[in-house]
Parts: sequence; C-alpha cells; structure tokens
Amino acid sequence: MEALNQAILDARSRYTALNPLSQAADKDAERYFPGGNTRTVLHYDPFPLTMVGGEGAEIDDLDGHRYVDFVGEFSAGLFGHSNEIIKSAINTALNDGFVMGAPTKYERELAGLLCDRFASIDKIRFCNSGTEANLMALTTSRIVTGRDKVLAFNDAYHGGVIKFLGGPSAFNVPFDFVLANYNDTDGTAELIDQIGDELAAVIIEPVLGAGGNILADKAFLEMLRQKTTDVGALLIFDEVKTARLGAAGVQGMAGIEPDMTTLGKFIAGGLPTGAFGGSAEIMDRFNPRLKGALAHPGTFNNNVCSMAAGSAAMGQIYTPQRAADFFDQSEVFRHSLNDLFVAKDVAMYANGLGSMIALHFSREVTKTPSDITTGCRALRPLLHMEMLLEGVSVCGRGDMFLSLPMDERHLSKARDALEKFIDRYKPLIEQILQA
Ligand SMILES: Cc1ncc(COP(=O)(O)O)c(C=O)c1O
Repeated sequence: MEALNQAILDARSRYTALNPLSQAADKDAERYFPGGNTRTVLHYDPFPLTMVGGEGAEIDDLDGHRYVDFVGEFSAGLFGHSNEIIKSAINTALNDGFVMGAPTKYERELAGLLCDRFASIDKIRFCNSGTEANLMALTTSRIVTGRDKVLAFNDAYHGGVIKFLGGPSAFNVPFDFVLANYNDTDGTAELIDQIGDELAAVIIEPVLGAGGNILADKAFLEMLRQKTTDVGALLIFDEVKTARLGAAGVQGMAGIEPDMTTLGKFIAGGLPTGAFGGSAEIMDRFNPRLKGALAHPGTFNNNVCSMAAGSAAMGQIYTPQRAADFFDQSEVFRHSLNDLFVAKDVAMYANGLGSMIALHFSREVTKTPSDITTGCRALRPLLHMEMLLEGVSVCGRGDMFLSLPMDERHLSKARDALEKFIDRYKPLIEQILQA
C-alpha cells in the first residue's frame, strides 16, 4: 500500500499545483459549511474542484480547465449542460410565472409521458427528489399492506435516509429494514419466506448504482416478482437512475412489472424532481375526492420549472426511440473500454449497463458488492485524480455517466486517459490487487 499511497500523494500534489483558485474557494467555504461541503458525495481529497460553467458534455472549473463531464450530475445530467429545448422550456415557464400554487399543464404533460411509457405506472405523483419518492413509495407499501417490514439490499442506495452502503446509515429512517444480498436468489427467497406475512415491500435498484453499477440477474428479479406476490408484499423498483437505460427502464427490458416504481434524476431535464407511481388500485389511495384518502402535500411537488423542463425533455428529446438508441451507443462505448482492458491485459472492468458505468479493478464482471475487493476500493482515488488531470471528470468512486451531447471526441478522450493510466500504473495495480 505504501507505493499506492505515494502515487496518490504525488497525483494530489500535481492537482493542487494546477488548481489554486479551487483550493482557495474550498478553504473559504469552510467558514459556512462544515468542511466546506453541503453535499457529501461531492467531497474528495485534497479538495473538490469548483465548477463555474458547462456547455454540452463539457464543464469548466475555476482555474480555467475544461473537462469532459462523466460525473453527469450522478446521472441526472443526461441532457448535458445547455440543451436548447430544455432552456427554452424553462424560460417560457419563467416568463409565464413560476410560483403558481395551482395545477399547471406542465405536470399533466409530464405525467402523461411517464405513464404512457412505464407499463407498471397507471398513475403517478411528483415530489422533490428520489429520496422523497422512495420514502413515499415505502410508506405507501406499509399503509396498503398494513405491515411494517421492508426488505432492501446490502450496499443499496435509495437516498440520504435510505442508504445501506457498507451497512445501514445512522441517518436512515427508522423503518423495520431487513437486508439481503444483491443477486443472492436462493438466500433472498428464503428470507422472504421467513418474513412472510409481515413483509410490506421489497425495494430494489434493478442496477445496484452507488454499490458498483451491478446488474441484477433476470432470474433474481423474476424470483422477487414471484415471491412478493406469494406473500402479498409490494415489489418496488427504484429506477431513479436506471429509468434512463431504455424506453421504459430496466423493467421494460426485463419484462417485469413491479407494483410501484420510483423515478427522479433526469426526468425533469436536470432540474429537481422525484416521482412515485404504480397501479391505479394503489395510487388511487391518494385520490383527494375519496374519503380517508392518503394526503401527500408538498410545496414544490409540481414546481413549474421542473415540470416544464421535464415535459420538454421526455416529450421532445428522450423519446423511447432515442432512449433505445442511446442505450445501444453507450453499450458500444462500454464494450470498447472492456476491449481496451483485455488488450492491455490489466485487471480492470467497466461494470454496469448502457450509460451507467462503474470502473472496477477486476478482470471480470462484478455480480455482487462483496466481490469488490479492498484493493479495488483503494485504487479508486488514484484513478479519479489521474482522470481529472487528463481533463476527464469521473465520480470519485469510479462511476461514469454518459450524456446525450457526448460525441466520439469525448469518448475517445476518456479511453485515451484510461490507456495512459494503465500504461503508467499497471504494475502498481497488479501489486495492490495481489496484496
Ligand atoms: C437509485 C437511487 N435512488 C434514489 C436516489 C436519491 O435521489 P435524490 O438524490 O434525488 O434524493 C438516488 C440518488 O443518487 C439513487 O441513485
């Protein structure tokens, strides 16, 4: 590890020398924010870059460097930084008044687009974030079933208060969670049988995102569909990230209909939102015309700018055909990375699916989070720093999200940066993984 620590220190000192203004801005922010930070995932050592602008698939920092943006706002940035259709939709909404305090056409348009697309969503409601969408879906499942237990998965991320990365977070809502292992079909089936009629819901990301962009086996999802039906629990697909992976998310690809689906991230064109939906039977519990209906208020549930941007984004840009094409193009890129790793004979793998990629230090696809080695985790900060130094911005944990404005120039830049990284560090990678 000594050699790795030294390499990381060396990369950080080159980075620090290149970014004095970001360093000073970070220091300054410590006056008001703990550690200068108001969004934990955006912190990395020695200090995060302050960004000042973006255009298409590129982003500019305070010290005047330009990056290809593979952080992609952790998948919400699907449309890039300056899509004209989205900008124009927001401007129109702004000019027409943006604090209506009433229903508007925009939320109805977006609702129609999403319900028409996802077979599992007859009816939908909007909220402000993916976290909120999952809280609402889980609470709905507990009320509808009259049960308390929720089965989730180790290393899943469903929001800041429903988080199981490396174990349950101290911040989690006090729901009665039971944790199973992702892609462990037999173990999870057994657990569902044991919990039986106390189980309100199973919640799953069909690609385990923050946990390493690990794809769920189809048989695993099919088992969840069958078992939840058997015990009378709801199956909730958290497609906050994965909805982008095709015309109707992973559920569309796998041909599996969950009872409820949660959405967020990109569906408002990059503006804040969340949504939860499901069968008419479940969602009609929210019908305010009915006596005893569930109440779901929220000042910004239908905020005009998000709804207008979402309607334009999903209606005019990310049509089902465009989503399918983008998936195919993204898979070509992901496979090209894996071809590069094989050609270089290095233990690296572009895990994930379509435009959701996580770089792992492994020769094979990662199928469950416990397969991610300590060495793999230890190498990530080095990869992250070196990619930034090459003008390619990826997430600190090695995630890369593709966006629609990316072209071959952007993708080649990422491939070239990875090639340079491998040429420089292959012996170190081998040493760390063997330790
Ligand atoms: C799968 C998944 N669900 C839920 C969330 C929470 O969404 P938000 O950050 O909008 O609250 C995230 C955010 O990264 C996510 O990846």
